[in-house]
Formats: sequence, C-alpha cells, structure tokens
Amino acid sequence: MSNRVALVTGGAQGIGEGISRKLGDAGFRVAVADLNLEVAQQTAKEIVAAGGEAIAVPIDVTDTESVKAAVAKIESDLGPVEVAVNNAGWDDFMKFLDTTEDFWNKILDINFKGALRVNHTVVPGMIERGFGRVVNIGSDAGRVGSSLEAVYSGAKGGIIAFTKTLAREVATKGVTVNTVCPGPTDTPALRKFANNSGQDADKVLGGMTRAVPMKRLAAPSDIAAAVAFFASDETGYITGQTLSVSGGLTMA
Ligand SMILES: NC(=O)c1ccc[n+]([C@@H]2O[C@H](COP(=O)([O-])OP(=O)(O)OC[C@H]3O[C@@H](n4cnc5c(N)ncnc54)[C@H](O)[C@@H]3O)[C@@H](O)[C@H]2O)c1
Repeated sequence: MSNRVALVTGGAQGIGEGISRKLGDAGFRVAVADLNLEVAQQTAKEIVAAGGEAIAVPIDVTDTESVKAAVAKIESDLGPVEVAVNNAGWDDFMKFLDTTEDFWNKILDINFKGALRVNHTVVPGMIERGFGRVVNIGSDAGRVGSSLEAVYSGAKGGIIAFTKTLAREVATKGVTVNTVCPGPTDTPALRKFANNSGQDADKVLGGMTRAVPMKRLAAPSDIAAAVAFFASDETGYITGQTLSVSGGLTMA
C-alpha cells in the first residue's frame, strides 16, 4: 500500500475514474480533478465509501490559472502532489480535411498542452523532494494512427515524445515519466463516438472488438492497472517508456 498523493486529471469518469478508484484501493490519497466537479465529487465519495481517501478538485487543464489553483488546493488538503496522472482528453471524429484551425487548437490545448500545464506546475516540487511519478495517458492513435483522428493522433504522438524528453531531463532527480496508451476502451467517450457515428452503435463497437486479438474492449480498470504499476515506488528504474494496453491490438 502507498499513501502518496496522486492527482488524476479527468478523474471523474471513464478511464480517469478507473485510475482514481484503482489508486484509491492501493492506498494513494487521490485528488479526482475534473472539469465536471459534480461527477468528480461522486467518484471521490465512492472511493471514500470503499475505504480510500479522496477529494474532488475542479480543474480545467486548458487554463493555467485553474491548474495552479487545483494544485494549491490539493497541497493544502492532502499535501504535495507526488503522482500526476495526465488523463484529461477530448476528441471529435472527422476527416482531417474537414477540420478547422479552431478545432486543431482545441484538440492540442486539451490533449497536449493540458499535460504540459500540469507537469510544468507539479514537476518542480517533485524534483525538490527527490520523488515523483508522472504518467501521461497517450493513445495507440499516437503510435499507429487512427482514422478520423488525425489531429488527436498528432497530439497523442506529441505526448509520447514529450514524455521521453521530460523523462531524460529529470532522470537523476527521482522522478519517472511514462506514457500509457489505451486501445479502444469502454468509456462515455467511446460510447459517444459510436452513437454519433451515423451507423448502428453496437455494430461500430462490435467492429472495434473484433479487431482486438483478445476480442474485447478494454475496461477502465485494465488501463488503471498499468498506471498503478508506473505510479508505484517500486518502478523507479523505469522511465520514458510507452506501454500499450490494448488486448494485443498494438504490438510495437
Ligand atoms: N476511450 C478510449 O477508447 C481511449 C483510447 C485511447 C486513449 N484514450 C484517452 O484516455 C483518456 C480518457 O478518455 P475517456 O475515454 O475516459 O474519456 P471521457 O470523455 O469518458 O472522460 C474524460 C474526462 O476528462 C474530463 N475533461 C475533459 N476536458 C477537460 C479539461 N479541459 N480539464 C479537465 N478535465 C477535462 C471530462 O470531464 C471527463 O471526466 C483521454 O486522454 C483519452 O484521449 C481513450
């Protein structure tokens, strides 16, 4: 068991909720940080009801002041952030040639710069204290591409490269930085995609499932297990790595 303080962005629902719960079960003191405070409060309440320690914190990862305020609140309520999980993300599905510059900016602001803002805020303290675990949530889209997700794939590829570089820069400071890349995972975001696809949602999800060698979509808990691995004290010699959690869909 660990009692370290863990910040999970986008921690209210989907993969982030799975990560928050898993870390809560493992003894971490969890800050469920999300744009949607109401759902974050519900997730934190459920972690506490299961015997863990958690608080809900409002955060908008596209706003530097909001990120700073969230980190300050976590510090005063739980203590300094020792584990940062950059999970908040967003996408809409369309052909690259149908996208606009406003759309590119939104995708990059949430999926790429969101992680930059959080890491820029919490990593100096980790270095000062000589301990930190950063886990950035990428995507297999950032490794092998994904139809209708060109800009998002670029942002997630950026996360992978950024992670490796930050990992090098802080390697002697007790801080590790790794990327976990989910494959298709059963979350509200994936359901929204299937429902808005203009096709039968079950067929869309069925097609995705068949493409996975294990013949099932990931559950948030599958992704959470990999995050908990990188978040632990014992994995301090592993840094700059990219781990796909995708039932064998991506083997590279
Ligand atoms: N579901 C998948 O198949 C899949 C696959 C690969 C990667 N991912 C990645 O996993 C992460 C989680 O995805 P999900 O499917 O659980 O998504 P989701 O939409 O179900 O949940 C995302 C959470 O992030 C929060 N959020 C969105 N914008 C935010 C912001 N600006 N500031 C703070 N919080 C914000 C939302 O409120 C929500 O609680 C994302 O980074 C996503 O890109 C998901």
